[in-house]
Amino acid sequence: MSFLDDIFGLKGKVALVTGGATGIGRMASEALVRAGAKVYIASRKADACKAVAEELSAFGEAIGLGADLSSESGVLQLSQSIAAHEDKLDIQINNAVITCGASYGSFPWESWDNIMSVNVSAVFSLTQALTPLLEKAATEEIPARVVNVGSVVANQPIGNNAYSYAASKAAVHHLTQILSNELAGKQITVNAIAPGPFPSRMMAFVTENEAAAKMVAGGIPLGRLGMPSDIAGAILFLCGKGGSYTTGAILPVDGGGHCQAHGMF
Ligand SMILES: NC(=O)c1ccc[n+]([C@@H]2O[C@H](COP(=O)([O-])OP(=O)(O)OC[C@H]3O[C@@H](n4cnc5c(N)ncnc54)[C@H](OP(=O)(O)O)[C@@H]3O)[C@@H](O)[C@H]2O)c1
Repeated sequence: MSFLDDIFGLKGKVALVTGGATGIGRMASEALVRAGAKVYIASRKADACKAVAEELSAFGEAIGLGADLSSESGVLQLSQSIAAHEDKLDIQINNAVITCGASYGSFPWESWDNIMSVNVSAVFSLTQALTPLLEKAATEEIPARVVNVGSVVANQPIGNNAYSYAASKAAVHHLTQILSNELAGKQITVNAIAPGPFPSRMMAFVTENEAAAKMVAGGIPLGRLGMPSDIAGAILFLCGKGGSYTTGAILPVDGGGHCQAHGMF
């Protein structure tokens, strides 16, 4: 085995990516498949998950599943269907998300319930439900991995008309560190990536509008939007053998956006 395969390779590993058919989830799924993992891609649109799994089959093994993570029963259904297919789970990427944009004055109550359910409760409950399978994969040398997808907005008090989304991402960062403490004794690491702006369905209003994309990129210290290789590098570090001793980390993947000091001097 080459040095790089040893440190970052995932041959023989089983992974689940929620919301893995689009955007950042798709980027993470492809990285995992190309590194050798068998990857389950799950979201509400089963057909889209199956289609992406089919595309990724060019590089390795991927399976698409339908799952609605907005309720406890949907979360349990997904965990049961993974358990029906696999006797261990090495890697769980909690990536699925919803958002809502509305002005401060009209921001609706319902958006808090819906968004917290998918973006926070499902992260906790799916991890809880899959812990027995993660434990089966975990060893002291190579722990099982949970990677939550947080956001650069989690650490910056910017509502940007997506108040519940931003608060839900802050909760994901906090929960990541709580779960890293909870699960370390079971040899399961729990980390988060905190992306800046990447092309995705959620971000299409920016990334598919040339002027808006240019403006957003201009506000990033490294001067560009994120690319699939940026997600691949972070995911393979956190999921490969080389990331075995890292837990409770919130890894910024944002071109330096998280450490800008706006207008201090
Ligand atoms: N793109 C960015 O600039 C950016 C920046 C910072 C953080 N992030 C984070 O990156 C992650 C991915 O976001 P994205 O930008 O890639 O957005 P996206 O393309 O809109 O992806 C969201 C995914 O979540 C799935 N999903 C939504 N509701 C679901 C439900 N009830 N059950 C199961 N799956 C559900 C969607 O699939 P279905 O519609 O098929 O269910 C979709 O695949 C999120 O955690 C987001 O907060 C993104």
